[in-house]
Amino acid sequence: MLIKTKKASDVPSSEITPKSVYMDRRRFLTTAAIAGAGAAFGTIAPPGFGSPALAAPGRGPKLEGVKKSKWTQKSLGEELTEYKAVTTYNNFYEFGTGKTDPAERATKFNPKPWSLAIEGAVEKPGVYDLEDFIKPHQLEERVYRFRCVEAWSMVVPWVGIPLADVIKRMGPTGNAKYVAFETLNDPKRMPGQNRRVLQWPYKEGLRIDEAMNPLTLLVVGLYGEVLPNQNGAPIRLMVPWKYGFKAIKSIVKMTFQAEQPPTSWNQSAAREYGFYSNVNPSVNHPRWSQAKERRIGDFLKRPTKMFNGYEEEVGQMYAGMDLRKLF
Ligand code: MTE
Repeated sequence: MLIKTKKASDVPSSEITPKSVYMDRRRFLTTAAIAGAGAAFGTIAPPGFGSPALAAPGRGPKLEGVKKSKWTQKSLGEELTEYKAVTTYNNFYEFGTGKTDPAERATKFNPKPWSLAIEGAVEKPGVYDLEDFIKPHQLEERVYRFRCVEAWSMVVPWVGIPLADVIKRMGPTGNAKYVAFETLNDPKRMPGQNRRVLQWPYKEGLRIDEAMNPLTLLVVGLYGEVLPNQNGAPIRLMVPWKYGFKAIKSIVKMTFQAEQPPTSWNQSAAREYGFYSNVNPSVNHPRWSQAKERRIGDFLKRPTKMFNGYEEEVGQMYAGMDLRKLF
């Protein structure tokens, strides 16, 4: 994401990103630094879903009891993005605004114990210990495309639970038209919050039908392993047909409510970041085109697909809406 202090003459991020990604990857692959940075993941306390096995050097602890889903690499027909790139090229402003800041600065963050507050229009509000919250559900792996508003994208094998199942369990009432999400607000643990680059805590929201869509996932892992801190440990959202900033990390609260909730990037720059944020190649960001994207690791750009390629699954939810206005 971009903070809005850029001058018009600055190079758009969609142009500078690929080179830096490329350079970063080269550097990581060719220096010992990556071994050091990676090794830190193994020291992160696992959130403890199931009984995580011992971590391979430089990797997170394995998640047990993860079933395969119908969203496989084969069904998607695309290469997975390298684990190293997924875990070292991040946006997580609570740990700094640079792409490598989260991997470098979130190593000491301890996401355990963790609780999740469920508030508002549900039959079973409360503060749930994360392990208890997850336990009734079956973890599954889903390989999704993930596209950032900055025009880079990845293919990641996420591990999580369908948000729809959680919502059904909580028993939404008739007033539950939207779900609001909040990230932890704790500048001591998330030092990037000492700078007011956004209004903390980070906030996101979905319409209830979007939250209940079978694609929407609450993520607790990737590549079969516990979610690394820099990717939003211990629990984050994944809505693969929307720009990446909807995928709120380190969630501590979900509120079911009648009104559309405020969202951080919309509060920061309403002209640039709408509530819906559906991937849409025909609606440009005011400062750059959204027609193409660079898959991390690729040299050439590829055309961006409507709803990030998930139109069949989600298009119906937006029938009759003017997606230029409701971007
Ligand atoms: N969640 C929080 N709390 N803070 C953030 O800065 N960045 C968002 C999203 N979720 C962000 C966040 C953006 S802009 C993107 S593209 C994705 O996280 C990046 O996820 P990744 O680092 O796992 O690729």
